[in-house]
Amino acid sequence: MALYSDKVMDHFRNPRNVGVIEDADGVGEVGNAKCGDIMKIYLKIQDDRIVDAKFETFGCGSAIASSSMATELIKGKPVSDALALTNQAVVEALDGLPTHKIHCSVLAEEAIKLALKDYYERNGIEYDKSQFPCCESCDHCSH
Ligand code: FES
Repeated sequence: MALYSDKVMDHFRNPRNVGVIEDADGVGEVGNAKCGDIMKIYLKIQDDRIVDAKFETFGCGSAIASSSMATELIKGKPVSDALALTNQAVVEALDGLPTHKIHCSVLAEEAIKLALKDYYERNGIEYDKSQFPCCESCDHCSH
């Protein structure tokens, strides 16, 4: 069996939603201290819905495929769906990742969560802090 699924290869070779949203409502950037990869997610939110999502990923093919798939999965969805997106859901949508590449999908989940946190904070919206990565114990986040 090939190491990477056709879907991973497709999203790596033809990533969807690459770029920057200049007037984004929320931006989340995470990095993995071990591999040095960085992922930045931009969200445009209207009426509690993700109307657009873009990413910039400086990282491995799995990280690029994960960001591409993750942005596809949340576009057009309510904010609550985006908040509930797990890295497992991204991996499943990609038809799997090799075990040593699972952490690449974690970056996508964390970057989206941080972008939503940024959106809540910019707009003074109350949010449940337990739904977000714990910044004190985590070395992924660059903030
Ligand atoms: Fe670092 Fe994939 S190897 S995100």
